[in-house]
Amino acid sequence: MTIKLKEQRVSEAQNFWKEEVVYQIYPKSFYDSDNDGIGDIKGITQKLDYLVDLGVTMLWICPIFTSPMVDNGYDIADYKGIQTEFGSMADLEELIAAAKAKNIKIILDLVVNHSSDEHAWFQTALADADSPYRDYYIFKAGKEGNPPNNWRSIFGGSVWEPVPNEENMFYFHTFDKRQPDLNWENPALRAEIYEMINWWLEKGIAGFRIDSITFIKKDQDYGDAPIDGSDGLGSVKHKTRNRPGIEQFLTELNAETFKKHECVSVGEAPGVTYEEFDQYIGEDGYFNMIFDFHYADIDVENGSEWFRQTNWQPQDLKELLFKSQMAIQASGWGANFLENHDQPRSLSKYITDKNYQNEIGAKALGALFFFLRGTPFIYQGQEIGMKNFQRETIEDFNDVSSIDNYHRSLMEGFSEGEAMNFVNQRSRDNGRTPFQWDASDNAGFNHSDQAWLKLSGDQTEINAAQQVNQADSVFAFYKKMIQLRNHSSACETLIYGQFAPIEASDAVIAYERIGDQTIQVFVNLSNQIEAIETSGEILLNNYSQLQERAGRYLLQPYQAVVIRKDPTHD
Ligand code: GLC
Repeated sequence: MTIKLKEQRVSEAQNFWKEEVVYQIYPKSFYDSDNDGIGDIKGITQKLDYLVDLGVTMLWICPIFTSPMVDNGYDIADYKGIQTEFGSMADLEELIAAAKAKNIKIILDLVVNHSSDEHAWFQTALADADSPYRDYYIFKAGKEGNPPNNWRSIFGGSVWEPVPNEENMFYFHTFDKRQPDLNWENPALRAEIYEMINWWLEKGIAGFRIDSITFIKKDQDYGDAPIDGSDGLGSVKHKTRNRPGIEQFLTELNAETFKKHECVSVGEAPGVTYEEFDQYIGEDGYFNMIFDFHYADIDVENGSEWFRQTNWQPQDLKELLFKSQMAIQASGWGANFLENHDQPRSLSKYITDKNYQNEIGAKALGALFFFLRGTPFIYQGQEIGMKNFQRETIEDFNDVSSIDNYHRSLMEGFSEGEAMNFVNQRSRDNGRTPFQWDASDNAGFNHSDQAWLKLSGDQTEINAAQQVNQADSVFAFYKKMIQLRNHSSACETLIYGQFAPIEASDAVIAYERIGDQTIQVFVNLSNQIEAIETSGEILLNNYSQLQERAGRYLLQPYQAVVIRKDPTHD
């Protein structure tokens, strides 16, 4: 699709990736075609018609490369190989071709801050201290047998792991100890990475989502970080996230790879300040778009420490969201999302009144994020309103970071019950439970009773089969949103129009998109009735009507409406 712009409006450059609607697939949990309890590539191919029906135009597939799966594929042992439980290279090629035939593009996950400890480079580096591969990773001598510094890894504990059979020698990992960081200071390593990226792009994928990329530059002094926990350690983020010097690596990465292709690059870029957005997504930025996390972690003070909960209000979300939109608009383009494989389900996170954690709430959140300026990313299951689970014991969790957060919470003095609460609310497993295709025992994830992760358990209430043919389902609402953004007379405005906040009461998040028309979005993020002022044609509504009194509209609890503004009303 290419939107035809009116000639007088040339301010916004047109690019194919601005017009996409992306659907994120966590392959392990999407559809298990061979009944082994693990989702697979063939499973994605078999469900393409569901995605066509929904109307998405691009898939982001989380890592499917050879991996010991310590972090579910974010630990790659062979960048050009396919993990056997997901299928084969032939399966992937078949998926790319089948998707292409249905006008769906595919982007893959690029994980190049670190590899798996099972990668041949790392194995060689361990086996032979004189091998050139030693310098593909970060090895450092300790301080009399203790780690070289006090940095805490993202998944807990020191970033330094003792090297077996070597005295006082450690290797560095930002994430799990089985995810050793690659040494970007080494030009030979960088050249191998670029060659691999170009190899994939030449294979016919449309681009990459780039994982943890703001971590590739480490402060070369390797000095201690300020201590910020009762473990006596300081977060690695202080010294390795978006640090000076990263600009050289990112400029080179872009020039050597993405810039040479007609492709899209989407950076996972936590830690980038708004002042730096120009460098990241400006005209000559490192990426086409980035995910901004400033509002995604509104419920916890620091994205990776779930015991520091906040008491956020809709007004806070509104401020963060608008700030983010304005900053992105000033620099370039954003990737908008409510959920991903690292976040809990949005219904459970953003809808604070449990009575509305239902189709009303799911549609309200959908409308809130979908029409923001940027490319919308829908995470699997979001389009049917999947929710968080409640687990009784930490034994039921798979996610490394959930297990770490549980133990860190205990260490910080919280009770077991409190620790379980934090993990239930925030666990990354919430978004990773098998997709609920139907109401059967295994939710139609496969035709066996196997599943690598316990299901959420509410598939009799929430499942795709029930929703695809139901006119007022969450799925139908997502379809309508996609239709409106990409295939209606409002599409120029909804894709390329400017973003502007609309003043409203604290609990109402309201904004407009201004192009050849003005389209307004009003979302009441509370369980109270809230009045708004506008006039125009209602394009979408998550209630069957919109009440009017004395020239004002009354939004019901969690009501969301999209309105084409009457040109005569100001
Ligand atoms: C990113 C991924 C996350 C992974 C981490 C380490 O944040 O989204 O799932 O655990 O990087 O690769």
